[in-house]
Amino acid sequence: MRILDQDADAVSTLSYAGLIEKIEILRSTLRWASSLERPEIEKVLRQASALRDEVLQLSHKERFVRAATAEPSRPDLSLRRRREALIARSFSFEGTFGDSPKLLEALEIAEKAAPTALPVLIDGESGTGKELMAKVIHANGDRADRPFVSVNCGAIPDNLLESELFGHCKGSFTGATGDRKGKFESAHTGTIFLDEIGELPLSGQVKLLRVLEAHEIQRVGSDQPTNVNARVVAATNRDLRKLIKEGKFREDLFYRLSVIHVSLPPLRERRDEIPLLIDYFGDEAAEALKRRPIALTQRLRAFLLDYAYPGNIRELRNLVYRLSCLAGETADCGHLPADIQPLLADRGAAGPAPIGNHETVSADALGEAKRLASDQAERAFLERGLQEVGGLVTELARRCDMNRSHVQTLLKKHGIRSKNFREAARTESGN
Ligand SMILES: Nc1ncnc2c1ncn2[C@@H]1O[C@H](COP(=O)(O)OP(=O)(O)OP(=O)(O)O)[C@@H](O)[C@H]1O
Ligand SMILES: [Mg+2]
Repeated sequence: MRILDQDADAVSTLSYAGLIEKIEILRSTLRWASSLERPEIEKVLRQASALRDEVLQLSHKERFVRAATAEPSRPDLSLRRRREALIARSFSFEGTFGDSPKLLEALEIAEKAAPTALPVLIDGESGTGKELMAKVIHANGDRADRPFVSVNCGAIPDNLLESELFGHCKGSFTGATGDRKGKFESAHTGTIFLDEIGELPLSGQVKLLRVLEAHEIQRVGSDQPTNVNARVVAATNRDLRKLIKEGKFREDLFYRLSVIHVSLPPLRERRDEIPLLIDYFGDEAAEALKRRPIALTQRLRAFLLDYAYPGNIRELRNLVYRLSCLAGETADCGHLPADIQPLLADRGAAGPAPIGNHETVSADALGEAKRLASDQAERAFLERGLQEVGGLVTELARRCDMNRSHVQTLLKKHGIRSKNFREAARTESGN
């Protein structure tokens, strides 16, 4: 909850300062007015209403943040139990898989944010599951059966941005042959997912800010405002605070969007999950491709466990699908894409599995190397053991004096299928 705390502080300080400034402006308008005409009274009333809304939003947010942080710390609750607790509360994962503490934290924030209408900002590197998380937030709220509209802000040409987001009226520009709804109107009562928000040009940012403040849009070519009630979830793989410093992103918009902030970790920070994810995507690919799940040679597995995955989960998933499509029973390094084949040569793929991918010697690198070595030893032990007992998990557990379910967990962690060993033993005895 660290991120949430930090943001809550930053948002509160800034928003309160902003609110007080606005109240002062309103006060001085009234103080120096000798007489007020009806239109001016209307204007002051509108400003006062906007202020009231902001105060309400702020207090709502503060209560939300307090509720999220006031829970007793849960050191006793294992990750698995936290995940089970989400399942017990009928949380909808939408296919999100993984047990890493950061991912679970993100899911728990998503669970709390889902039933509110507060804007959520999701950040993370490319392929870390930002869009998936946006769908999780949508699916767990009371808008789940309403539209989820996704907009890639980086893919819309500047001159079409306004029409794409807010719609246009017939004849409002060359090519506007009819009235057209924008994405915000399409997302009315549902969720609008503003992907790659960091790519939105400054002119678009001003317009978006206005929608977030007034909850109304104007189609291009119309002066009629239309109320829209679309819950905003935005995502970025860029450092928005840096863009703010460079003058490329509006600070006020950032605070508007990031009332709730969810950060998704890159795969290299959750390497423990790689074996589980290989297994998970292996089964998924087998189902999609209508085939048996592939087996991996030891050197391919060692490579996959150690690879840096610059494209994160998407890259891992694509790799497993590729292997499942190209390989027969067993996939090997030769089935990897050509662009990552050179990495194999660099590390001598035929030799022992590489120890970590840290370039410099450091305490972290040592820890990582030890962990990898221990993982590899554990894996080799389990494989040898299964071979010896003909794939019988109960027998392996008995010989190691371990609980059967613990052995199963270890096998799952390494993506080892006891079934393959049983089949191999049967084949051997048949020969
Ligand atoms: N935790 C996860 N469990 C299962 N699948 C995942 C997980 N995270 C991501 N994926 C899968 O990885 C792929 C990429 O996810 P997604 O499109 O949500 O990433 P993204 O962060 O939006 O990427 P980009 O920044 O490139 O748009 C999708 O196929 C998604 O289903
Ligand atoms: Mg995306």
